[in-house]
Amino acid sequence: MTVETKMNRPGPLKAEGSWSNVFSYHTMDIEVAKSEGIYFYDVNGNKYIDASGGPMAFTLPHGDKRMKEAISKQMENFTHVHPTLSNKPQADYCSKLAEVTPKNLNTSYLVCGGSEAVETAIKAARQYHLASGNPSKHKVISNYGSYHGMTLATQGLSGNPGYQRHFGEMLTKWPHIHQYSDHDKPDGMSREEWGLKCAERLEKMIYFEGPKTVSAYIATPQGCGSDYAAVAPKEYWQRIREICDRYDVLLIADEVVTGFGRTGKWFAMEHFDVEADIMTVAKGITGCYVPMGAVVVSDRVNEPFKSGAAYFVHGFTNGGHPLGCAAATKALEIYQEDNLIDNSNKMGNYLHSFKEELLDRPCIKDVRGWGLMMCLEVVASKESGEYFESSKGAEGVFQSIALKNGLAFYSTLYGARREPIFKRGLPLMISPPISINKNQIDDLMHRLYESLDEWQEEMGVC
Ligand SMILES: Cc1ncc(COP(=O)(O)O)c(C=O)c1O
Repeated sequence: MTVETKMNRPGPLKAEGSWSNVFSYHTMDIEVAKSEGIYFYDVNGNKYIDASGGPMAFTLPHGDKRMKEAISKQMENFTHVHPTLSNKPQADYCSKLAEVTPKNLNTSYLVCGGSEAVETAIKAARQYHLASGNPSKHKVISNYGSYHGMTLATQGLSGNPGYQRHFGEMLTKWPHIHQYSDHDKPDGMSREEWGLKCAERLEKMIYFEGPKTVSAYIATPQGCGSDYAAVAPKEYWQRIREICDRYDVLLIADEVVTGFGRTGKWFAMEHFDVEADIMTVAKGITGCYVPMGAVVVSDRVNEPFKSGAAYFVHGFTNGGHPLGCAAATKALEIYQEDNLIDNSNKMGNYLHSFKEELLDRPCIKDVRGWGLMMCLEVVASKESGEYFESSKGAEGVFQSIALKNGLAFYSTLYGARREPIFKRGLPLMISPPISINKNQIDDLMHRLYESLDEWQEEMGVC
């Protein structure tokens, strides 16, 4: 197979011309003119495969006419609703969403993105406990290495000192535990046994913080940071569920990345037969056609709000925006009509069939994930298991080689800024729109192999 698109290697964008008015913009010097299916086109007509679905976000095909029509139609009717009037598109969408969410997760609060969804979730948990006669429950436990957003509250939850460094004094110091990882599993121990051991960390943290003070535990189903796309055994999540129940701690599944088919099921927690009490979603909810997010609460959490015992003290001007609701409703229809969740599962299996070939390369230490979410752990040397020092600019070099070969990857943010104390590689995510077909995966892999070979040679990986 030949690579159709070859261009000069793009470099980092300089803050010149109209870009000089954009605050702190970091990107490559490529201007997108159009997007369609799994592809972007730049102003010079070069074509790029959207290899990581933007920031693991674009689940739907780009440029889908059905989305454009649904959003335009809503625009012709009305674009916003006065807060004292009812917003029917919101009610209709919440009903439709409840048809695909897990059994007990039936009631949604609509927001404008993932960070807002996470903040909303921890406030809903707090108010649930207040209304249930547990006023001291307010702490939220989260994972080290996790990412839950960029607002101050969500950054406090995110267990990544790289992001927290500049804002330390401004952040809430939430307790963190280590997430499940295959990386530090003791030799000879099964994944199941290790999963149960890892889950014990939650119980210990609840004990030491004081069960009466702990409101919720928030985690992504797919790991995060160095452990992106780590799939824990079912036993891990089932034990986490038991521990949360034992101490009346709400389990919040942050499905901002994994929701809407990314892992081959509607929502990733379904793989473990575990239901959260609260689920946060964004990204795939509209495939990013319109900014949108949602917090879905279980019937139990909804009860005091439904009965009138509690009133949720919260709200955003653009939460439940009618254009967002029109886009999200159409997105759900497209997922169903085009069998995209099933496609993610089937194409995911096909993508993962390249695992051994990928592992043959000196720069790939691990390949993991599920559905159309594959993480390559890229290293400078398999022996050391480490990535390059940030001064080598290895991630930028890879980005620019990949773009030249027609592949757009998301810069993971874990590269240049990563802490050197952990002997881990750089997570490189392959998570294209879930409408991708077999030939397109072949094309993506061909370009990826070519890019990895060039990068290995340039960086001296052998
Ligand atoms: C797991 C998770 N939660 C929350 C967020 C924040 O979402 P947003 O960027 O839409 O605010 C992200 C963003 O990548 C995420 O990966």
